[in-house]
Amino acid sequence: MTPPPGASRTAHQHRDRTAPHTGTGSTVTLRVNGAPYTLDLDHRTTLLDALREHIGLTGAKKGCDHGQCGACTVLVEGRRVNSCLLFAVALDDHAVTTVEGVATRKAGTGPADTADTTSPADTTGTGHAHDTGTDGDGLHPLQRAFVERDAFQCGYCTPGQICSALGALAEAAAGHPSYVTDPGHPPGRPVTPTPEEISERLSGNLCRCGAYPHILAAVEDVIE
Ligand code: FES
Ligand code: FES
Repeated sequence: MTPPPGASRTAHQHRDRTAPHTGTGSTVTLRVNGAPYTLDLDHRTTLLDALREHIGLTGAKKGCDHGQCGACTVLVEGRRVNSCLLFAVALDDHAVTTVEGVATRKAGTGPADTADTTSPADTTGTGHAHDTGTDGDGLHPLQRAFVERDAFQCGYCTPGQICSALGALAEAAAGHPSYVTDPGHPPGRPVTPTPEEISERLSGNLCRCGAYPHILAAVEDVIE
């Protein structure tokens, strides 16, 4: 996509790190969905505002702007975050995946452009998404499951739900316990994503339309 005014997709190594600043702003490069975006940002700019207002990716939504609703959830280096709570300048050269970036991966390979450059769909080892990883209709299997399960009504929470679910499943697979995980679970061993686990792990993502049972069904559909 064409970057909006104020954003440039110059390669990271071409950035002029010596550019002067007023003391309230900095130049930062975010690798969003596989593409580098070099931005001059006020230090107070959140990742959410950098994505929406400076890069033009409006998939991540601003619900509360206070870390309470999860509508702004994206993945940073493959881990889910509330993008309204992070300052963009602290994420220089970090890989960010938004809901716009999850559709370009093959089933079961996870989100685009994580720190894992060994992903099967990452055919060049660059960490970038490629069309060879699409699943036929351009949707990630989880996105298609949301459609098939009628897992949204207004859709405002949906980008956050999808990014959060991808992060949650990765956390469970990596053995990260949740509040409902058996305390006797062996450390580091994958946690089975039971309905109770999924519900707990997605409890930070609110849905004002109350689509929770359908969201749970959609997430269960993509568990292998
Ligand atoms: Fe970030 Fe609500 S907008 S948690
Ligand atoms: Fe409307 Fe979740 S579908 S807030």
